[in-house]
Amino acid sequence: MDIIVIKGGRQLNGTVATSGAKNAALPLLFSSLLAQGEHVFDNVPRLNDIDSTELLLNHLNCETQRNGHQLKVNVNRPQSLVAPYDIVRKMRASILCLGPLIARYGEAKVSLPGGCAIGSRPINLHIEPLRQLGAEIDIENGYVMARANRLVGDRIVFDFATVGGTENIMMAASLARGTTIMENVAKEPEIVDLARCLRSMGAKIQGEGSSVITIEGVDELQPARHRVIPDRIEAGTLLLAGAITGGDVKVTNCVPKDFDALINKLIDCGFAVECGDDWVRVKPCDRWVAVDVDTAPHPGFPTDLQAQFMALMTQADGTSVITERIFENRFMHVQELARMGANITPKSQVSVVRGEKGGLSAAPVMATDLRASASLILAALATDGETTVNRIYHLDRGYEKLEEKLSSLGACIERRAN
Ligand code: EPU
Repeated sequence: MDIIVIKGGRQLNGTVATSGAKNAALPLLFSSLLAQGEHVFDNVPRLNDIDSTELLLNHLNCETQRNGHQLKVNVNRPQSLVAPYDIVRKMRASILCLGPLIARYGEAKVSLPGGCAIGSRPINLHIEPLRQLGAEIDIENGYVMARANRLVGDRIVFDFATVGGTENIMMAASLARGTTIMENVAKEPEIVDLARCLRSMGAKIQGEGSSVITIEGVDELQPARHRVIPDRIEAGTLLLAGAITGGDVKVTNCVPKDFDALINKLIDCGFAVECGDDWVRVKPCDRWVAVDVDTAPHPGFPTDLQAQFMALMTQADGTSVITERIFENRFMHVQELARMGANITPKSQVSVVRGEKGGLSAAPVMATDLRASASLILAALATDGETTVNRIYHLDRGYEKLEEKLSSLGACIERRAN
């Protein structure tokens, strides 16, 4: 298993480009199941989660062909409408095949994803709305068994603005009979990207990016040609890497307004941040002050940047209160940061971080989930010793060549086979 070794203490400087967004690409690839023929997606990041998606699409009789960051998906009628446990357990987002399969073929058997390191992550907000659209759904032997004639549009009010739930229902409703009005939906940029792609396939969707999405179902959709949006979480992580080393880093190929909650927090900390339409730059800063953060659905502060921001707060002047409001167990990185000398008190959904510039020391640490891995790497950059990060398969699920990008900015970081 590979490890990442970081020699900290170097200021990062330079320009680095963002890759395509994992969390946009995954639902987009599953949306291809809605239409027979060849779909072409550009700016698809090279990640293990994309490989898992391809594996599931292949299992569902789609041929996939990669050429750099382009991925072609040729959709054929599946022989079996099953998403098996062995594939789904590798990646929870596999549940996003449920909406398209039930809408297009009237049947699907999808393994329950189960919990994960950051929380229990149920799928009730995917299942209940599908039932409202007319699907009969049972849970049997660890599988979601879904059946429907043709789905029929309805008014759906989500209890919580779930990202995946919103995406699954958008895809299903696109082929339903009649109109679906989805209320209290997620507003993330990835939702907007999915709506744009579905519209290019012929779907009649309005309201994406607001809390109400209206979809008038159509009988058939055409294959898509679509470019995936930049990864706002990767862009934010790279910006934080510049910030934590007091460096001057410009992140390009990104959409700063998609992560302005982070940019505003950096400014509150005392960083000078410049933005263009598709780039953002953090300027050198010696000392920054602690600020509090509450994670929230978009446009609030993203939970996917909480762990990385916490690393920055370990180096701030003062005390930061970080509240995680999306997942019930997303503080697994706290214990590992503490092994590097961070002074953090976790209490249920809140972590109190007492910052101390230069207070971290290198240590062998273990990544517990994707964003926790990035947090540990950022913390390692702020030490002056050698940190080893184990279990970096988590990192490979969602960051494309992070170590190469950081080393292009001057970090001393390498991947080693262990
Ligand atoms: N929830 C339910 N029932 C449901 C669905 C969600 O109770 O049926 C709860 C979850 O347990 C969680 C909260 O609602 O506490 C938010 O879950 P949501 O459905 O919004 O998240 P998701 O679709 O499972 C996506 C991203 C996550 C990101 C969250 C929140 C993808 C593939 N994943 O997950 O990304 O943290 O939205 O923004 O888009 C990551 O990339 O590291 C990652 C975890």
